[in-house]
Amino acid sequence: MDQILVRGGRPLSGTIPIAGAKNACLTLMPATLLSEEPLTLTNAPRLSDIATMTQLLASLGAEVASLQSGQVLALSSHAITNHTADYDIVRKMRASILVLGPMLAREGHAVVSLPGGCAIGARPVDLHLKALEAMGAELDLRDGYVHAKASGGLKGAVVAFPFVSVGATENALMAATLAKGTTVLKNAAREPEIVDLAQCLRKMGAHIEGEGTSTITIEGVDRLGGATHPVVTDRIELGTYMLAPAICGGEVELLGGRLNLVGAFVAKLDEAGIDVSETPRGLKVARRNGRVNAVNVVTEPFPGFPTDLQAQMMALLCTADGVSVLEERIFENRFMHAPELTRMGAKIDVHGGTATVTGVERLRGAPVMATDLRASVSLILAGLAAEGETVVSRVYHLDRGYERVEEKLRAVGADIERVQA
Ligand code: UD1
Repeated sequence: MDQILVRGGRPLSGTIPIAGAKNACLTLMPATLLSEEPLTLTNAPRLSDIATMTQLLASLGAEVASLQSGQVLALSSHAITNHTADYDIVRKMRASILVLGPMLAREGHAVVSLPGGCAIGARPVDLHLKALEAMGAELDLRDGYVHAKASGGLKGAVVAFPFVSVGATENALMAATLAKGTTVLKNAAREPEIVDLAQCLRKMGAHIEGEGTSTITIEGVDRLGGATHPVVTDRIELGTYMLAPAICGGEVELLGGRLNLVGAFVAKLDEAGIDVSETPRGLKVARRNGRVNAVNVVTEPFPGFPTDLQAQMMALLCTADGVSVLEERIFENRFMHAPELTRMGAKIDVHGGTATVTGVERLRGAPVMATDLRASVSLILAGLAAEGETVVSRVYHLDRGYERVEEKLRAVGADIERVQA
């Protein structure tokens, strides 16, 4: 099994290209199920999660061709030949539930296994199901599967989410494009990935208004056509690589980065003593002083501080001057990186959803284990800052969401390589 070996202590300089967003691509791909005509996605990231979604869509009868070394995905769902999303594929990735809304909307029936995914909390799909029920779906949960039917098709409805869910908003949005009448999604997620999905669906002929705000209105249409759409920049990959020069010094330009993708996160970097400026090609990041300031972080839905950058931010704050408090409000079990960072000399106390990090002058390299996608990259960031050698094992988590991480970091001067255990 692969491991990543990092020798810390080198300042970084140069440019890192940021890929298309994994989370946007994972919701744009199932949108192919809404139409008989082809959907072409450009700027697609090359990741194992994308391969899993490809496998899932293919199992339903869609054709997915990966072109230009995986950066272009040509999807076509001329006919849906199988209406069951099987447990064997769905368990690998929670985003698999996103085939439910589109398949149900187009075909009037679908069977989808309840998903697995990262082990960062209970992560139920009740909001997805309630939204589809409000649109007239009849649901039956049997043997670990959701059996969904909408005889006569889905109907427009007012769906008020009790709290913000990115996935439930995406599922409901896709389903509503083919429902009869008007659907209003209240307390909808405002993430850039939702905006990207709405823009793509509009190119396919959907009538949508209000994406990027908490109320999205969808006027159902009879059919959707084909489209070509570039996947939005990955704001989580962007934020992760912004933290690299922040943690080990130097100056790095992130190609394709934009400030509006990372609002609250940039404000926290500024507080910590990191300079971020826009350039014609992206964002430039440099650390102002020798040691960063401690800052407090609360994770929230967009535009708040993203939960998907909490682990990486913790890695930075491990060497801050002072005490930082990180409060995780999205997922209840998302501090699994804390004990691993502690093995590298960090001082972290976790109580429920709050982690208190007392900054130390230096981290020390150690063998550590990745526990989930964002935790694994936080250990690499910590390794870049640490004295000596860090070996990160279980990097298959990393490959779900970061394309060529060791190549991108080596190109800006990091001492990092992938080795076979
Ligand atoms: C998406 C992202 C993930 C990110 C998360 C929050 C993808 C593929 N994944 O996940 O990287 O960390 O948004 O920004 O886009 N919940 C329920 N019932 C539901 C749905 C969600 O209780 O039916 C809860 C979840 O357990 C969690 C919270 O709502 O506590 C937010 O989850 P949600 O926004 O739905 O996350 P995902 O769409 O799964």
